[in-house]
Amino acid sequence: METLALPSFFYCLIAFSSTLLQFCIAADTISPGQSISGSQTLVSSDQVFELGFFSSGNNKNWYLGIWYKKTPGVLVWIANQNSPVTDPSGVFTISNNGTLVLLNQSNHTIWYSNPSRPAQIPVAQLLDSGNLVLIDNTTSTSESYLWKSYDYPVNTWLPGMTIGKDMSNSLNRFLTSCKDSDIASPGDSTYKFDYKGLPQIFIKRGTMKIFRTGPWNGVRFSGLPMPINQFFFPILASPNDMVGYKYEPKNKLVLTRITLSESGILQRFVLREGSTKWTTMDAVPNEMCDNYGQCGANSVCRSYKESTCECLEGFNPKSPEEWKLLNSSSGCVRRTPLECQWKDGFMKLEWVKLPDLLEFWLNKSMSTKECEAECLKNCSCTAYANSDINGGGNGCLIWFGNLIDIRGYNQENPGQDLYIRLAASELRSIRESNMKESPVVILMASVICGMLTLGFVFWCITWKITSRRLGLPREKED
Ligand SMILES: *[C@@H]1O[C@H](CO)[C@@H](O)[C@H](O)[C@H]1NC(C)=O
Ligand SMILES: *[C@@H]1O[C@H](CO)[C@@H](O)[C@H](O)[C@H]1NC(C)=O
Ligand SMILES: *[C@@H]1O[C@H](CO)[C@@H](O)[C@H](O)[C@H]1NC(C)=O
Ligand SMILES: *[C@@H]1O[C@H](CO)[C@@H](O)[C@H](O)[C@H]1NC(C)=O
Ligand SMILES: *[C@@H]1O[C@H](CO)[C@@H](O)[C@H](O)[C@H]1NC(C)=O
Ligand SMILES: *[C@@H]1O[C@H](CO)[C@@H](O)[C@H](O)[C@H]1NC(C)=O
Ligand SMILES: *[C@@H]1O[C@H](CO)[C@@H](O)[C@H](O)[C@H]1NC(C)=O
Repeated sequence: METLALPSFFYCLIAFSSTLLQFCIAADTISPGQSISGSQTLVSSDQVFELGFFSSGNNKNWYLGIWYKKTPGVLVWIANQNSPVTDPSGVFTISNNGTLVLLNQSNHTIWYSNPSRPAQIPVAQLLDSGNLVLIDNTTSTSESYLWKSYDYPVNTWLPGMTIGKDMSNSLNRFLTSCKDSDIASPGDSTYKFDYKGLPQIFIKRGTMKIFRTGPWNGVRFSGLPMPINQFFFPILASPNDMVGYKYEPKNKLVLTRITLSESGILQRFVLREGSTKWTTMDAVPNEMCDNYGQCGANSVCRSYKESTCECLEGFNPKSPEEWKLLNSSSGCVRRTPLECQWKDGFMKLEWVKLPDLLEFWLNKSMSTKECEAECLKNCSCTAYANSDINGGGNGCLIWFGNLIDIRGYNQENPGQDLYIRLAASELRSIRESNMKESPVVILMASVICGMLTLGFVFWCITWKITSRRLGLPREKED
């Protein structure tokens, strides 16, 4: 009997521990006293995201990360990117006060989270959004997280994740690429909000600017082809003052992520239901005019035109030889120097991405007229624009020196108007040459010409009839 009872006891034990293991694997939360190690993972309740340890290829360095359960190679977050655990026995746990900690074999803290305040009943949960959050389970209604992985993005922007500020704290969240050779090493490219003057988002590689959205003009970024639609939400500090950005998926059956590559390309990928292959939907930079400063200083880049780069009106290529070889990087220079002392005027450039905010001045409460006067006051002012296009436009943005990275569009959205300062004589000569080519002038000329011709014919006929009546000699009438 005993010999029979023993195996059944073992069977029972095995069944029990496998249930326990199953429980561990299926769980989406951990509490103090619980931990994750080895191949144990947390899985979000909808089975989309998984949190656990992974090694970056060589099995020497171990990281705690979050990936898609269906495509484990696609990481969306890494906790200890700069401090790997150098043995496979790392432990992820949660202390009694709510600090998430990662320990190595000899119980050294390799990484920890700093909760905004200590928790009484701390619980860490991997949400369906892929966000690892710390909650205090004292008040079930509490919606604020004491800590969230969404505040510390790596290279992946997930639906619902804010880039920039989300108003609950002052963190400026941004993406940093990962090295192609080693996913766990931070790369050189970033996708980040710059709040100098008006908010703009830049893709940079190191300190080199690769792409920018153009400044936020109260309605949109003046150079972001991706439209503000029902899936992209600006996060506003006040009615027209945007500080962050997030997006939601268009379709719940499709998983979406936006990832910054090491070469500085921001790509949107989707994974359709039933598939394990991510496909690229769109990317920036994607065309020539997306590249920062493509046409050099004081020029406009227009993708829809054959001559992509053109000098601003009143400017000529600095190096005509290089421009002929389609190298416009040296940009353009003013044809006629500014006269200053109120003698200059402005040329309106419609539908453009405003120049980069390198040397500028901003006053959000000025009118357009005051802005123009303010620009004329200072000899080094080269252009002005409304800082906010709401209600017909108001606020004043003024540029000094060269105008860099202007892009032209063939429609109002996403661009806006920019007023370029030119010498009065230059403005006159541009107006005159435009006048000659103007369709109205051409039409008027042909109408006047036609009227003169008709008048002459009529005069001829009248003259002939009159002369016949008067019996004057007729010319050559056989
Ligand atoms: C929480 O506890 C850990 C040790 O378990 C300690 O290092 C840390 O300072 C504590 N944090 C807070 C906010 O009290
Ligand atoms: C754990 O980390 C500490 C500090 O980084 C290190 O000195 C120690 O060697 C590590 N232990 C193991 C077993 O790797
Ligand atoms: C690490 O901590 C655990 C739990 O407190 C303990 O069981 C284990 O002996 C410790 N290991 C070392 C090397 O101190
Ligand atoms: C929070 O506490 C309640 C009981 O107060 C418990 O039923 C629930 O499972 C806890 N939630 C988590 C995520 O641990
Ligand atoms: C374009 O001209 C600049 C000098 O203005 C030069 O440094 C650069 O190498 C040229 N680019 C190409 C692609 O020839
Ligand atoms: C901004 O413009 C308003 C309206 O003209 C003016 O009252 C205010 O003093 C200006 N602020 C600055 C800092 O120049
Ligand atoms: C013109 O603007 C420049 C750049 O902001 C500034 O350094 C300079 O003092 C201004 N000059 C006058 C006369 O206001």
